Amino acid sequence: MMQANAFRILALLAVLLCGATSLPTDAAAQQAGAVPGDALGLNSDTDLWRFVRTGNAGSTQMKNELAAVMIQSEGDNYRAIRNGPISAFGGIGLIIVIFVLGLFYMVRGRIKIDSGPSGATILRFATIDRFAHWLMAGSFIILGITGLNMLYGRYVLLPVIGKDAFAALTAAGKYAHNFLAFAFMAGLALSFLLWVRHNIPNKVDWQWIKMGGGIVKKGVHPPARKFNAGQKIIFWAVMIGGLSVSMSGIALMFPFQTTMFGDTFALLNGFGFSLPTDFTPLQEQQLNQLWHGFVSLVLIVMIMAHIYIGSVGMEGALDAMNSGHVDRNWAKEHHSLWVEEEDQKAAKPAE
Ligand code: HEM
Repeated sequence: MMQANAFRILALLAVLLCGATSLPTDAAAQQAGAVPGDALGLNSDTDLWRFVRTGNAGSTQMKNELAAVMIQSEGDNYRAIRNGPISAFGGIGLIIVIFVLGLFYMVRGRIKIDSGPSGATILRFATIDRFAHWLMAGSFIILGITGLNMLYGRYVLLPVIGKDAFAALTAAGKYAHNFLAFAFMAGLALSFLLWVRHNIPNKVDWQWIKMGGGIVKKGVHPPARKFNAGQKIIFWAVMIGGLSVSMSGIALMFPFQTTMFGDTFALLNGFGFSLPTDFTPLQEQQLNQLWHGFVSLVLIVMIMAHIYIGSVGMEGALDAMNSGHVDRNWAKEHHSLWVEEEDQKAAKPAE
């Protein structure tokens, strides 16, 4: 028994030694193209796939940089972030804002004109203002709904309406999303030009914030000019967020043409950050998509609060964007300094 074991060990050592001495010779001959590889090959599977995964043109037969990407490991991270935190926190955010607005309505009710409607009106928004608002708002709402369908439709809508209807609806939604993006950008640019001068922060805003905007307690009316601090926050969020969503959306519409993330990160690195800047075209697309979804969800949550306060939440507010004329008492309660300015302008003799 002892003898048989010793024999086996000796035989094993002999095989290992022979292998160790013959392998480099085989490898050299094979690399020189002299002999074909043996059945097991000389490179390990891990090495082979690591090589393919680098995805550089030349590591495969494909010369096109994008076509050469056979395995893209970052795609796993992208998918995990999109289907994980972005979808989850976006959904939670939407549910929370609906819940909070519902609760606010139940506790505070509709914010009334405390002194009652006067019957007299004052022009708040001219036709061009209202056109800009509804161009931006109408397109945003459809972009929001079709975008939410792209993220959540397969979980929420598909089980209800079935595969065929869902496919048709989502395809139509995708066209609407792509084309209405341009209407949104036009509305955004026009609203910016029309309203930016009224949205520069000033001292009055601080007072408005300290008084909670007067929306929590009945009869509290902090002074405000044309736009109060809350509206200025909405304005700048819509302008900056809208621009960012537009740019990332254009990058998604015309894929692999932009290097916005690499460029932005390089810019930030100039301010002491140390962010990666060397992204492949595919990674740029993935980052664009994550960012586009994230900023859109934040905007949708904010705009839901805006829509609430501009319609059911406050008596007299919607008139501003409907007819353009608001009740004078509404205007005095919510924008007292603006009413004074308008009255002074009207009292001035025409030059
Ligand atoms: C049904 C939907 C909407 C309604 C009922 C609505 C209502 C209103 C009203 C009444 C005003 C004027 C407030 C005032 O007189 O002071 C306003 C202003 C404004 N709206 Fe909307 N809106 C809607 C959707 C949107 C959307 C989707 C956006 C942007 C994406 C938007 C952006 C703005 C901005 C930037 C202003 C000026 C600043 C402010 O008042 O907050 N609105 N909206």
